[in-house]
Amino acid sequence: MDYSLQQKIQEAVPLLQKSAFTTAFTGAGISVESGIPPFRGEEGLWNKYDPKYLEIGFFLSQPEEAWRVIKQIFFDFFGTASPNQAHLTLAGMERRGMLHRIITQNIDNLHQEAGSTNVFEFHGNSKKLVCLACYEEFPYGMISLDTLPPRCPHCQGLLKPDFVFFGEAIPQEPMMKAYDAAGRSDVFLIIGSTGEVMPANQIPPLARQHGAKIIEINPEESNYTQHVTDIYLKGKAGEVMKKLGEALFAPSLEDN
Ligand code: APR
Repeated sequence: MDYSLQQKIQEAVPLLQKSAFTTAFTGAGISVESGIPPFRGEEGLWNKYDPKYLEIGFFLSQPEEAWRVIKQIFFDFFGTASPNQAHLTLAGMERRGMLHRIITQNIDNLHQEAGSTNVFEFHGNSKKLVCLACYEEFPYGMISLDTLPPRCPHCQGLLKPDFVFFGEAIPQEPMMKAYDAAGRSDVFLIIGSTGEVMPANQIPPLARQHGAKIIEINPEESNYTQHVTDIYLKGKAGEVMKKLGEALFAPSLEDN
């Protein structure tokens, strides 16, 4: 590991240890080492698929075609991904009182599967399907995707994955809680996000405006790195968070 990264981790550790309220803001990059491709960048999903399939207008007008692509992108390899070291370290920080909130743009449920509990899902979660006619909700595993589009077992209405499509509003509760967390954070971690998508991308700058120290983990620079980030830890989330966890959780001398 390069010296400057190790040095920056040493700079970040005391901030995290002293912080009374720490929030992690995560994007698709944190799940890449779990085998889930990001949306943008070289291996990005939007290089392979047209984002129109995730637009609510297209979904409502061409549900079968939209579902065919949604199934390929989100559900065909569903359940094969498991939390990586980055998710696990965040859960370890929460258990030690070193992390208070996670705001995630991801819908893969990996933070919860890693053991994190205070997770605000800004874009919803792909574990549930919702009926657009009677609003009944169904666990993903209960509905067969052999026939598309899937229909509601109760009223035959159109079923939609319970995550936010382009053109849909962000669910009120996670949005309010995310803004509240940003306003209270002493330290704010940004892990694996380009910062491309509104309104989620407004949260890190809001945290900075309220005085948070911003620590960013990403192998590439993002829209935050030059203008929002205070400490940029260049590297993959799983690798950097492993090192950060080792430094953070190391029994300090006073512990002996
Ligand atoms: N570790 C950390 N970051 C990584 C890794 C990794 N191993 N691999 C890639 N990244 C970074 C990329 O450099 C990029 O900055 O993850 C980011 C992925 O960017 P996006 O795919 O744009 O992900 P995100 O910012 O979460 O997208 C926001 O866009 O399509 C919508 O709703 C979707 O929630 C998503 C939103």
